[in-house]
Amino acid sequence: MQKLKIRGGVPLHGEVRISGAKNAALPILAAALLTRDTLALTNMPVLNDIGTMVRLLEQMGVSSARSGHSLSLTAADVGHPVAPYEMVKTMRASILVLGPLLARFGEAKVSLPGGCAIGARPVDLHIKGLEAMGARITIEGGYILARSARLKGARIFMDTVTVTGTENLMIAACLAEGTSVLENAAREPEVVDLAECLIRMGARIRGHGTDVITVEGVDALHGAEHAVMPDRIETGTYLTAVAAAGGEVTLTHARADTLDAVLDKLAEAGAAITRGERHIGIAMHARPKAVNLKTAPYPAFPTDMQAQFVALNAIARGTGIVTETIFENRFMHVQEMLRLGAKIDVEGNTAIVHGVERLTGATVMATDLRASACLVIAGLVAEGETVVDRIYHLDRGYEKIEQKLTGLGARIERSA
Ligand code: UD1
Repeated sequence: MQKLKIRGGVPLHGEVRISGAKNAALPILAAALLTRDTLALTNMPVLNDIGTMVRLLEQMGVSSARSGHSLSLTAADVGHPVAPYEMVKTMRASILVLGPLLARFGEAKVSLPGGCAIGARPVDLHIKGLEAMGARITIEGGYILARSARLKGARIFMDTVTVTGTENLMIAACLAEGTSVLENAAREPEVVDLAECLIRMGARIRGHGTDVITVEGVDALHGAEHAVMPDRIETGTYLTAVAAAGGEVTLTHARADTLDAVLDKLAEAGAAITRGERHIGIAMHARPKAVNLKTAPYPAFPTDMQAQFVALNAIARGTGIVTETIFENRFMHVQEMLRLGAKIDVEGNTAIVHGVERLTGATVMATDLRASACLVIAGLVAEGETVVDRIYHLDRGYEKIEQKLTGLGARIERSA
């Protein structure tokens, strides 16, 4: 299993280019199922999760052509509207094919995702919403079996804000008969990017970016070109790495307007932030100050940045209280951080992080994508060598992470 070896203690300097957003790209790829024409995408990140989604679509009959960060998909012949367990278990976002398959073909068979490292993560709201649009859904042999004549527009209230749930229903509603209204919809920028792509494909959507999204169904969608938005979580991760390790870095192809909550907390920790149209600058020349934070749906602080801020607080002056309100089991990184010398108490959904002056290198194990990012940041500041094992999690969501960090002066290498 591949590992990252990091020799910490080097401040980061220079420029890093941010990749396209994984969590915008995944629903956009699924949306290619809505039309027989070609969807041509640019700024597509090169990541394992993207490869998994493309393979999932290919085994249904979708054809794809990839060149670097460009990817075209054509769903002219889809003979097999099935997402098998073997693929869904490696990537929960596979559930995103349910809405488009049902909307265009009237049938879908998608494996239930099951549990994952950070909590139970049910998909009941996806199913309830599709049923409200007229789908008949049963669970058999671990699979969601869905059938429908043409879906019908409906008013759907989601009692929890769900990102992929909102995306699945918004995609399905595009080809439904009549108007759908999604209430308590997710406002995440990735939902907005998906809506913009769907609109380019001929969908009639309004209210994306607010908590009420209205979709007027159309008979068919057509091909389009779309550039995937920059990854705000990758951006936030590099910013937090600089805040922890010190230094001065410019992040290019980044969007500050999607990161207000994170940039505010970095400034509170003592970082000097400059916001440009397409770039963000950060300078940090002192030990960070601990910050309190609470995760919540956008525009509040993202759960996908919580682990990285635990690493920042771990070496900060003072004590930071980190409260996780989205997922019930998202402090797996804490046990590993203790191995590096961090002082953290977990009480229920709260981590009380007492900053220490230094961490010391050790071998640690990545348990999920963002927990891995936390451990890499900790490795960048720890004295001596930190070995982060099981980095396949990192490769799901961070394009060329060791090359990007090496470019900033970090001492980091991959080994078998
Ligand atoms: C997406 C992101 C993930 C991020 C998360 C929260 C993608 C591919 N993944 O995941 O990186 O951490 O948003 O910002 O975009 N819930 C239900 N019933 C449902 C669906 C969700 O109760 O049917 C609950 C979940 O258990 C969780 C909360 O809603 O407590 C939010 O989850 P959700 O927004 O759905 O997360 P994902 O879309 O899976």
